[in-house]
Amino acid sequence: MSHTSSGREKSEVKGTAIDVQGIRADFPILQRKIGDKPLIYFDNAATTQKPQQVLRTIQEFYCTYNANIHRSPHILGQEATELYEQAHKNVASFIGADDGREIIFVRNSTEGINLVAYSLLFSGSERLRLHRGDEVVLTVMEHHSNLVPWQMMREQAGVTLKIVGIHDDGTLDLEQLREAITERTRLVCCAHVSNVLGTINPVREIGRLAHQAGALFLVDGAQSVPHMPVNVKEIGCDFLAFSGHKMLASMGIGVLYGKRELLEEMTPFLYGGGMIADVSLERATWNKLPWKFEAGTPNVCGGIALGGATDLRTGQHLEGAVDYLERIGMAQVQAHERTLTAYALEGLRAIEGVRVYGPLDLEKRGGTITFNVAGSDAHLVAQLLNDEGIAVRSGGHCAYPLAGRLNVESTVRASFYIYNTRDEVNRFLGALEDIVRHKLL
Ligand SMILES: Cc1ncc(COP(=O)(O)O)c(C=O)c1O
Repeated sequence: MSHTSSGREKSEVKGTAIDVQGIRADFPILQRKIGDKPLIYFDNAATTQKPQQVLRTIQEFYCTYNANIHRSPHILGQEATELYEQAHKNVASFIGADDGREIIFVRNSTEGINLVAYSLLFSGSERLRLHRGDEVVLTVMEHHSNLVPWQMMREQAGVTLKIVGIHDDGTLDLEQLREAITERTRLVCCAHVSNVLGTINPVREIGRLAHQAGALFLVDGAQSVPHMPVNVKEIGCDFLAFSGHKMLASMGIGVLYGKRELLEEMTPFLYGGGMIADVSLERATWNKLPWKFEAGTPNVCGGIALGGATDLRTGQHLEGAVDYLERIGMAQVQAHERTLTAYALEGLRAIEGVRVYGPLDLEKRGGTITFNVAGSDAHLVAQLLNDEGIAVRSGGHCAYPLAGRLNVESTVRASFYIYNTRDEVNRFLGALEDIVRHKLL
């Protein structure tokens, strides 16, 4: 395959196309050069870049609306509260949740998963509290943020962890999963999309199996919600955690979705201002949802930058990341990434010595591609790509047990998003081919 520029910049999706050049114009950072080379940003699984619409919302919030929420009688406080509550509702609609009460703004996916773990550990409800001998089922492809909290629950509550393996093609071993789920299973937790293999896990089926056994089902949506249509009702999950910074919003804002009746029953694990209904010197009662889980001053601006809001007073729309993605359409986002992924996989496999990890079937994977060059250190490959202006990740990608299963210490990871082009993939493949031929051998 030739790695010369094709000049094609549009992804055709069932008659609709993403205007990649138009999208690129919204991202100021894409004008950057690395040395004299244009930046090619392929580290989107780590964090994405931000469009000017979201940057404007952040600036507008601090220039016009900044105030603390839920406690001020003055107009700024009321407006900030209104915008922040709207942002919850918009995020709820983005993932098909019932309403804003099911959306808890946290810092990131990691905090969302920890919230569930600690809430179940400290649960005032006997039904929900984790007990010694309870089983939590995980997969070997979990990010550390969906493994370490459960290891802590093993220490703190005495739960047993059961880890489900993968097939050699990087797909989940569903047979093993079926065997792992028993009447003692309290919780099944899995990544929707692996941040290493790109594997899309069959969450609907996993959720069905979990619920059949009377267990709760937590989905780590850090690598799915930014990249494909995700609807909590269709998945049938009880909890879904994801990070704003991986989907065009700022760092420090994330989401934990939880089914309302569960959140009502759960005990919060962060205590302080904002999350109480009443406090005496002896005791406190909890605020209504979702504020019961949002103790202290939250990331108000981050929430609005994620969810977007319309100020009822001025009618001005403050565009959030969710608005930006919805305007493109999540099916189109996914199709665009799929086109790039197909092209990149074909090109990578044609380069001698390159080994790709994860499924090759495009129906079973997202736009994150992990690979190694035989006999070469992944960090060196990433460094040499960086010299060409290409930002990729190298290492264990916060999934060390998976690296162990793959029998590697580190890998190189390229991950795509809406602003990446076929031309960039061409340049990446050309640079890699050149590196393999002339710099590594
Ligand atoms: C699958 C997955 N889960 C969880 C996380 C943690 O995200 P954050 O660092 O935003 O909490 C990541 C981050 O890369 C991830 O890829």
